[in-house]
Amino acid sequence: MNAHIIGTGSFLPEKVVTNFDLAEHVETNDEWIMSRTGIRQRHIAVNETTAGMAFEAARRALDDAGMLPEELEMILLATVSPDHIVPSAACEVQAMLGANNAVAIELNAACSGFVFALNTAHAYVMAGIYTKILVIGVETLSKLVDWSDRGTCILFGDGAGAAVLTADECAGIQDFVQYADGTKGEALLCDAKPLQNLFVQNGQQQRYVRMDGQEVFKFAVRRVSESIDQLLARNSLTTGEIGCYILHQANARIIQSVIKHLKEEEGKFPMNVERCGNTSGASVPLLLDELNRSGRLKKGEKVIMSGFGGGLTWGSIYMIW
Ligand code: UT7
Repeated sequence: MNAHIIGTGSFLPEKVVTNFDLAEHVETNDEWIMSRTGIRQRHIAVNETTAGMAFEAARRALDDAGMLPEELEMILLATVSPDHIVPSAACEVQAMLGANNAVAIELNAACSGFVFALNTAHAYVMAGIYTKILVIGVETLSKLVDWSDRGTCILFGDGAGAAVLTADECAGIQDFVQYADGTKGEALLCDAKPLQNLFVQNGQQQRYVRMDGQEVFKFAVRRVSESIDQLLARNSLTTGEIGCYILHQANARIIQSVIKHLKEEEGKFPMNVERCGNTSGASVPLLLDELNRSGRLKKGEKVIMSGFGGGLTWGSIYMIW
């Protein structure tokens, strides 16, 4: 049995922040941001919370799937920006939904989070443990970003996306690859609370996202291309057979480099980075929901999904829609 997506949902905060708005706060401009990243605007949370956005996306995905919250057996929520350390946002969403029969687990794999969570759901389905699983990717990165650092603050946005999965004999996830390289973690990091107790008194510590942009860029192009090549080869697929590639929306130039590497048609790589910015773990499910609702994904179509980011982590999925 395969884990198969039968419903999707998403949510974006109301406030839209354009490149022109940002240029009023840091030394930047629309031309630089557009040409280097393909981002024109992003949604930023003002009244929204991580759990609240995840709940909205989940509610819409359940509606789309025609499933009641109490039917769920598992909730897997991927985030690096929860509202609390305890309880997890996964448990908060379980309570908000009234999904009383579902275990709720949170997973941190940064921008690869949703893809890794889908793989985890697939493993549970294959093992015959659960058959009704809700997977969510949600981020409020705006609270982890240094708004005075023009190198990072222009990149990120907030939002949530979700998918409901059930067991299917034919459609759904066919294969996946997923990787981590902790030795390269410093390329993209954000500190948690520093050690501070009766015996250790620390001063203030940097807690914002810091990134070696060029290092992450090179890593992303190389590893995403590699992981897709690997999936195609071991499933005896040619690029011509793939109908759609849903890649993490970090930067339009990263996606264009992958297209060039695969010698693929640009139209098979839908993007929403221009409107949403880089929403980390939420970007793949946000785009997935747009594509599902617009009818872009056709039943039986072969789809590749890829995530990559902090950790460093990366991975790709081959699925039949
Ligand atoms: O989800 C995964 C996480 N992250 C990513 O995928 C990010 C991957 N990396 C990137 O997308 C790119 O590296 C960035 C968009 C972050 C940066 O683009 P870049 O072409 O690598 O620029 P750079 O960092 O080499 O900076 C070039 C210049 C520098 O000025 P000097 O030293 O040449 O005078 C920067 O200070 O651009 C300057 N700069 C800016 N100028 C205007 C940096 N940020 C800005 C800005 N506006 N916002």
